Amino acid sequence: MTVSSTVSLNAGIEMPRLGFGTWRLRGRQCEQSVGWAIETGYRMIDTAAMYGNESEVGAAVRASGLPREDVVVTTKLAGRDHGRARDAAFESVERLGLDYVDCYLIHWPAGSGADLRVWSALERLQHEGILRSIGVSNYSVTQLEELLAASEVAPAVNQVEMSPFVQPRDVEALCHERGVALQAYTPLGGRASSLDDARLREVSERLGRTPAQVMLRWGIQHGAIVLPKSANRERIVSNAQIFDFELSKSDLASLDALG
Ligand code: A2P
Repeated sequence: MTVSSTVSLNAGIEMPRLGFGTWRLRGRQCEQSVGWAIETGYRMIDTAAMYGNESEVGAAVRASGLPREDVVVTTKLAGRDHGRARDAAFESVERLGLDYVDCYLIHWPAGSGADLRVWSALERLQHEGILRSIGVSNYSVTQLEELLAASEVAPAVNQVEMSPFVQPRDVEALCHERGVALQAYTPLGGRASSLDDARLREVSERLGRTPAQVMLRWGIQHGAIVLPKSANRERIVSNAQIFDFELSKSDLASLDALG
């Protein structure tokens, strides 16, 4: 596996196993960080209408000089826009300035159901080609099962919080069983203290890797696409160095015990 390794989505898209998360990155800092990520070799950028940074993400992708088809851009439908999904998707495309979105997700389910009405609107947009693939985020097993049973187009992705400290084991199993790509947000545990965990430190020191690299590698070996965010160039580079080592079964088991 290399930094450019991909997972084939049901929509025929090759989704990189490493993506760049952009939550909380704004303005110039966002554009600069996405630029560094692309320079480093990240080929998937994850944003959302809610993050307020789609314009900067799009500007950085355009400024990279890479052919449009070389970068996978994911964005998400905000909860307030469930009743106007079609307009909201076009607005995202407009803010990104990239003609189409590679992967468009329902950011959060509106309640306990699967949002089938919203899903049909996304199916139409995929059919029209403005969204190349569609998926969901923060869906439980019940919601994902409801969607899989009722939809014409199966969700390509379910993006959920996942790290050794937050393990959605049932969702992970269902995604793998049904061929839904599993994306891990907050893959570094969400708190600085996560990186100081004694067991994580023991594994990372023994392997000569950073705690962040070990956490990301744990996600990769669980079959997830990991989406670390950083505004720091060195950490952006270091977080991509996760394809040249492997965690042993016993290291995986020891990290599995953290969540
Ligand atoms: P920074 O932007 O200053 O690097 P997550 O992707 O799990 O949401 O984590 C993002 C947080 O983790 C950010 O606060 C980011 O801060 C920090 N972070 C990202 N990469 C690393 C790293 N390699 N080591 C320590 N902290 C990191």
